[in-house]
Amino acid sequence: MIPPAVASQPRKSRHMVETLVNLFFLSARYLHIVATTLIVGGTLFFEMVVPIAINELKLEVQMVLFARMRWIFRWVVYISTATLLLTGAISMYRNWNVINGDFIRFMVQAAGPNQVYSLITASFFNWPRFWFLAHIASGLFSLVIAVALVSGGKPPERPLQWMRINLFILMIAIFLASASRGARQNLFQALLKNPSIPGARE
Ligand code: HEM
Repeated sequence: MIPPAVASQPRKSRHMVETLVNLFFLSARYLHIVATTLIVGGTLFFEMVVPIAINELKLEVQMVLFARMRWIFRWVVYISTATLLLTGAISMYRNWNVINGDFIRFMVQAAGPNQVYSLITASFFNWPRFWFLAHIASGLFSLVIAVALVSGGKPPERPLQWMRINLFILMIAIFLASASRGARQNLFQALLKNPSIPGARE
C-alpha cells in the first residue's frame, strides 16, 4: 500500500522526482567507474608504454618527452581524483546504512539473528562494513600517492617504480569495492532462500 503522505503527492511529480533521484545516483556511480578507468589506464600507460616508446631516443629527448607527458598525465590524475572523491562521497551518502549499522540490523530483523550470525561467522566475504571501509581507505591512499607523484616541479626518485606500486594499490581498491558490493549481495541472496521470510524461495 502507498503511504498516505506519498499518495497525497501528484502522481506525475512523484514519478519525476523518483526518476531524477535515480538518475543522479546512477550518474555518480557511472562517473566513479569512468574516473577509475582513466586513472588506472593512465597509470598503466605511463608505467608500461611510455618507457618502451622512448627507450631508444637520446637521454635529453627522453627527459623532455617524459616531462611533457607527466604534465599531461597530471591533469588526468587531478580530474579523476576530484571525480572519484565527489562521486565516492555521494555513494557513501547513499550507502551510509552500511556504516551506521542499519543495514545489518535490518538483516537481523528480517532473518533473525541466527541466520545472520552464522553467515557472518562462516566467511569474511560476508562482512559488508569491513569491505566498504577497506575500499574507502585503500581508494584514499591510492589517490594520495597518485597526486603526490604528479605534483611539484620534478618527478620523485624512481617514478616508474612508484607508479607500478600505485597501480597495484589501485587494483586492490577495485577488488575491495567489488567485495563490498558482493558482501551485501551474499547476505541478500541468503535471505532470499530463508523459508521463514514471506516471499522467499525454497
Ligand atoms: C576517497 C576515495 C573514494 C571513495 C570515498 C570511494 C567510495 C566508494 C563507495 C562508497 C563505493 C560503493 C561501494 C559499495 O557499493 O559497496 C565505491 C565503489 C567503487 N569504487 Fe570507490 N571510492 C573512492 C576511490 C576509488 C578509487 C581510487 C577507485 C579506483 C581504483 C575506486 C573504484 C571503485 C569501483 C570500481 C567501485 C564499484 C562501482 C559500483 O559497483 O558502482 N574508488 N566507491
